[in-house]
Amino acid sequence: MFTVHLSDSVTLFHGDALRILTTLPDAGVDAVLTDPPYSSGGTCMGARQADPSQKYQQSGTKRQYPPMLGDAKDQHSWIMWCTLWLSECWRIARDGAPLMVFTDWRQLPALTDAVQAAGWSWRGIVAWDKRSSRPQLGRFRQQCEYIIFASKGRFAAPTRACLPGVYAYPVIAAQKIHLTSKPVALIEDLLAVTAPQASVLDPFMGAASVGEACIRTGRGYVGVELSREYFEISRARLETLHSERR
Ligand SMILES: C[S@@+](CC[C@H](N)C(=O)[O-])C[C@H]1O[C@@H](n2cnc3c(N)ncnc32)[C@H](O)[C@@H]1O
Repeated sequence: MFTVHLSDSVTLFHGDALRILTTLPDAGVDAVLTDPPYSSGGTCMGARQADPSQKYQQSGTKRQYPPMLGDAKDQHSWIMWCTLWLSECWRIARDGAPLMVFTDWRQLPALTDAVQAAGWSWRGIVAWDKRSSRPQLGRFRQQCEYIIFASKGRFAAPTRACLPGVYAYPVIAAQKIHLTSKPVALIEDLLAVTAPQASVLDPFMGAASVGEACIRTGRGYVGVELSREYFEISRARLETLHSERR
């Protein structure tokens, strides 16, 4: 476990999110935007514990990514674990702060329960239309992932704009750095519910798509990642971005 300060407003932690969150002060961040391990992918334990590269990549994809950690919990322990880290995020967030958490269709009901159990006021979901997905014979494609939107008490909206409820961004394989990379442009759109200089907490940094969007839009960023490989990928990505913008 160690910390890297890239600037006054960007701090990265290597280590377990739950342990690190307990060390952060009360009411220290303006927003939480994160993409935790989904522990999804099937109806039985075997499917859930499969290698994430099989669960979250279309068959036939050859590209290899560093292993993604923490993705094989059963449903009960996953909900309990989410409630624990979401409770810490609630404590660390300022009153009125927005929370945005990525999830898929399988875990949406479980995660909205955990969000509320942790004290957040659930305010809706945003759909991310990925524009492509595995074909499903005789039934609907699972073409969307979701962002659960909640707030710490009464939501302090920083904008009077009416924002969409669906964002369409394809996953561009050549731009992927992490097995489950999210498009930076999507994250930038989601940041519309945070103030222009907000500090954003992301306990599951991955390869730092949220971090890149925060730096590009002038926001602060606090990221945590357990995998040493992904931590170093994130550190290099954000250092490069910082030096380009100086
Ligand atoms: C879904 S990925 C995030 C991907 C990220 N949004 C991106 O676009 O690059 C979740 C990340 O959480 C990390 N992780 C898993 N368990 C963790 C824990 N207990 N503490 C911190 N990070 C953890 C995984 O290694 C993985 O990189």
